Amino acid sequence: MADIKVAILGFGTVGEGVYRTIHSHEEELTAVLGKKVEVAAVLIKNKQKQRNISENILITTDFEEILSLPQLDVVVEAIVGKEPTFTFLKKAISKGCHIITANKEMFAHHGKELLELAKKNNVSVGFEATVAGGIPIIQTIRQLLKINQVRQIQGILNGTSNFILTEMREKKHSFAAALVQAQENGYAEADPTNDVEGFDAFYKTMILSKIAFGIEPNWEEVEREGITSISIDHIEAAEKLGLRFKHIASLNREGSHLVGSVKPALVTKSHPFYHVEGVDNAVCVQTDIVGRISLQGPGAGMFPTASAVIEDLVYVVQNQHSNLKLYHADNDHDLQKIDDAKE
Ligand code: HSE
Repeated sequence: MADIKVAILGFGTVGEGVYRTIHSHEEELTAVLGKKVEVAAVLIKNKQKQRNISENILITTDFEEILSLPQLDVVVEAIVGKEPTFTFLKKAISKGCHIITANKEMFAHHGKELLELAKKNNVSVGFEATVAGGIPIIQTIRQLLKINQVRQIQGILNGTSNFILTEMREKKHSFAAALVQAQENGYAEADPTNDVEGFDAFYKTMILSKIAFGIEPNWEEVEREGITSISIDHIEAAEKLGLRFKHIASLNREGSHLVGSVKPALVTKSHPFYHVEGVDNAVCVQTDIVGRISLQGPGAGMFPTASAVIEDLVYVVQNQHSNLKLYHADNDHDLQKIDDAKE
C-alpha cells in the first residue's frame, strides 16, 4: 500500500517539530492509519541554512516544485503571514491535497474560503494548531456543539504573553529579557509584536468564535490590547492585593450579539486563570447544558504545536474534517439568525 506523502511548508519551530514527530511516532501513525507517513518535501526560505533533514527528501524554495510531485496527500503549512501562504494552500487543495495549518493570521482571514474550497475538492482542512497550541480546543468545541449552545468563552490564548507576565512576576525579569527568553524557547512569533500587542490572541479568538458560535464579532468592535503597558511595578502592586495580570480573550453572547475582547485583566485567586502560568494557555467554555468546561496546557513551543498538527494529520487522512457546517454564516454578526437556522 502506498505511503501517505506529506509536504511541510516552513522549517521553523513548528515545521521542524512536525518533521521530528512524524519520525519519532512513525509506528503509532502507521498503526492508526494503516499506512506509513512519509515526509516527501520541505519548503524552506534559505538554502544556506543548516538543517537536520534527511537527504532523500526534496528540500526546495519553490512551492511549484512541491506541487508537481506525482503523489502528494497532505500539505502541512507552518509559515507566517497571510501570503503567499493562502495562495499556496488554495493550490494544494485544488490539486486534491488535504491541508493542515498552524497559521492563525492567515486562517482568521481566509479560513472560510479554504474550508469551502476544500469541501468542493473533497479534501479536509486541519487547523487545531491555530488556537491554543497543544490544547485540543477546536475538537472539543466541535464535539460540544452538536447539542450544547456555547454562551461564553474565555481564554489565555498567547503563550508568549503569559510566559512574559509570569517571568516578570516570579523572577522580576524585565519585559525585554522575558521576551528574549520566550523567543529562545520558540514560543514567540517571528514578529513578536503579534504576541505582545494582542494580535495573535485576537486571530485565535476570531477562529474560536467561528467554531463555537458560527459567527465572529465585528473585528472593529473587538477591544484589543497587549501586555506592553504592564510594568513590574504594576505586577508587584497587584500581587500585594492578591491579584495577577492575565491576558484574557473573551467572547460573550449578549442577546443576539457577540461581544469580544482581548486585553489584560486582573484576576483574583479564585479565578480559573490565576494559576495558569508560564507558556500555558487555558480555555473555559460555558454552555447551556454542561456548564463550564476548562482546558489547560502548553500553548506554544515545538512539540505542543506539533502534537496538534499530528492529531490533525490523522483526522484529515481519515477525512473527519469534511463536515464544515460550523463555518456557515459569513459576514453575519447576528446570533439570532444562527439560532433560527438551527431550529
Ligand atoms: N506565538 C504563539 C504564542 C505561538 O506565543 O502563543 C502559538 O500560537
